[in-house]
Amino acid sequence: MEKLLLVSLLLISVSVATSQPIPDPATFLRCIVREGSNPQTFTSAVTYIPTNSSFTAVLRRRIPNLRFDKPTTQKPLAIVTATTQGHIGTALACAGELNIQVRIRSGGHDFEGLSYTSTVPFFVLDMFSLRHVDVNLTEKTAWVDSGATIGELYYRIAEKSNVLGFPAGLCTTLGVGGHFSGGGYGTMMRKYGLSVDNVVGSAIVDSNRNTYADRVSMGEDRFWAIRGGGAASFGLVLGYKIRLVTVPEKVTVFSIGKTVGEGAVDLLVKWQSFAHSTDRNLFVRVTLTLVNGTKRGEKTVLASFIGMYLGRSDKTLNVMNRDFPELKLKKTDCTEMRWIDSVLFWAGYPIGTPTSVLLNSTVENKLFMKRKSDYVKRPISRTGLGLILKKLVEVEKVEMNWNPYGGRMSEIPSSRTPFPHRAGNLFNIEYVIDWSEAGDNVEKDHLARGREMYEFMSPYVSSNPREAFLNYRDLDIGSSVNSTYEEGKIYGVKYYKDNFERLVDIKSTYDEINFWRNEQSIPVRRS
Ligand SMILES: Cc1cc2nc3c(=O)[nH]c(=O)nc-3n(C[C@H](O)[C@H](O)[C@H](O)COP(=O)(O)OP(=O)(O)OC[C@H]3O[C@@H](n4cnc5c(N)ncnc54)[C@H](O)[C@@H]3O)c2cc1C
Ligand SMILES: *[C@@H]1O[C@H](CO)[C@@H](O)[C@H](O)[C@H]1NC(C)=O
Ligand SMILES: *[C@@H]1O[C@H](CO)[C@@H](O)[C@H](O)[C@H]1NC(C)=O
Ligand SMILES: *[C@@H]1O[C@H](CO)[C@@H](O)[C@H](O)[C@H]1NC(C)=O
Ligand SMILES: *[C@@H]1O[C@H](CO)[C@@H](O)[C@H](O)[C@H]1NC(C)=O
Ligand SMILES: *[C@@H]1O[C@H](CO)[C@@H](O)[C@H](O)[C@H]1NC(C)=O
Repeated sequence: MEKLLLVSLLLISVSVATSQPIPDPATFLRCIVREGSNPQTFTSAVTYIPTNSSFTAVLRRRIPNLRFDKPTTQKPLAIVTATTQGHIGTALACAGELNIQVRIRSGGHDFEGLSYTSTVPFFVLDMFSLRHVDVNLTEKTAWVDSGATIGELYYRIAEKSNVLGFPAGLCTTLGVGGHFSGGGYGTMMRKYGLSVDNVVGSAIVDSNRNTYADRVSMGEDRFWAIRGGGAASFGLVLGYKIRLVTVPEKVTVFSIGKTVGEGAVDLLVKWQSFAHSTDRNLFVRVTLTLVNGTKRGEKTVLASFIGMYLGRSDKTLNVMNRDFPELKLKKTDCTEMRWIDSVLFWAGYPIGTPTSVLLNSTVENKLFMKRKSDYVKRPISRTGLGLILKKLVEVEKVEMNWNPYGGRMSEIPSSRTPFPHRAGNLFNIEYVIDWSEAGDNVEKDHLARGREMYEFMSPYVSSNPREAFLNYRDLDIGSSVNSTYEEGKIYGVKYYKDNFERLVDIKSTYDEINFWRNEQSIPVRRS
């Protein structure tokens, strides 16, 4: 035992002295073959290295963002598309042995591509094949593997019941693994909170390849951390056990758009006091987009009020005419549908699209994408709103989604999960910067416009810290090069506020060696 220790110490000092060579794909594959030689696992059969003719297709099948799908994008040494826990164990063993970073990818929707690109040597541990969903109607629960998309989850629930659902995101190709680990908001958040508020269990694998199959064995503190603290800092999440929520047999959706000329500013003034305080069955988001004005060549902002009421249209009209009569919602604006069809509506599918599209996780119409986020705590004045809409016209190419909070979101204490943005928030702002034309200058231009709009918004949004939403990951707000506490604190308090220190404590307890790291991971506390 002691001899072994001595030898390995010697080996470490030799490799430090000669500075370990940068591992290449062949070395990684050799390690996989060696470590995964157990005939029951055969990890090499699911490992793709760049010379393999399928490598690019496997890498790209979960890259929705063209910004990280260029020839110049740093590629992994390999992709391990695990189909068993044995494969995961083998891959983690080689990560440790060769000292290369692991990037876990579930749906690949990370807005900065952190699940499949990096500036340091890394490989992708792809959860693509681990996507089982098991719904238990008696318990009103489900187990969902991390590699499943939320579309698959919604489909499997609706397949068994038309009065059960789950509060998660709007885009149905999001992966459960990343989405839940950043909180997960959607159109039912005012009634039921975030996805993580409805997670009751999980299973994880740590860097020593130990599996913890439930919250007791992983520890309640680690279970707390992976529900919104960015699970990639703490381990590999195999899946989550969730509590399903009740949905009515029919929900009602509507969408009404008004330009500035048609009174958008007045409506936004009213929306700010209405949207967070109204009936929690009602969710009315605003999208601000640029459209042609009445004069030739003129641009203006269209404010679209897109809503869903968890109930029928007569009830929807009662509530809307009581709380937001200025929008003048009419019966003919309303469409009643099953909850599962509302999922398709919000994801942008035409009404009548068969729900089976939810089982197809291929992203259609890929775009170059950048996101930023803010929180609004005090209503913005009419003057401020007017200036914001004017600025949107001026910067062009930046759109916004305003998502109302309140309801259940305000009742959950901000320390219940790592996600801290609870009571006191009127709405969240998502800055949407999407484009379809390739080119470095086009990209620079779009990113600069996004930053300009974000700067312009600073008087109207939270400050000290200027809060941000982890799922709208934005490396502009800070990133870690040397994995120090000081670097981590810069983005950490924006994403997690007072929960940041507790995350650092948990990280320091369970991952002192900082095995699980990325550009915005939770740092280890060093004394
Ligand atoms: C088009 C689009 C629409 C969106 N809409 C919404 C929305 O409505 N609501 C919302 O809340 N968010 C939304 N998001 C943001 C989304 O929730 C996050 O990008 C989320 O991280 C995506 O999860 P993923 O599994 O697809 O991502 P991935 O890129 O696979 O992972 C994201 C992060 O989680 C880590 N991770 C992934 N799987 C695991 C695992 N099994 N164990 C540990 N760590 C893991 C990754 O390493 C990475 O750091 C949207 C994103 C896009 C691109
Ligand atoms: C590519 O890799 C996969 C997974 O390891 C393997 O099954 C396949 O045979 C490889 N194909 C080629 C052409 O090397
Ligand atoms: C559902 O959960 C109940 C209670 O734990 C259990 O007895 C039952 O076997 C489960 N049903 C299925 C189909 O897994
Ligand atoms: C807006 O106007 C431009 C010309 O200024 C035109 O090319 C474009 O098609 C118009 N868009 C719409 C949606 O009408
Ligand atoms: C899944 O969707 C993609 C993109 O829309 C499409 O090309 C593909 O044919 C679909 N696959 C199946 C099995 O329907
Ligand atoms: C990271 O560490 C290097 C070497 O110690 C140092 O030169 C660099 O300034 C550090 N970067 C940051 C952002 O702290």
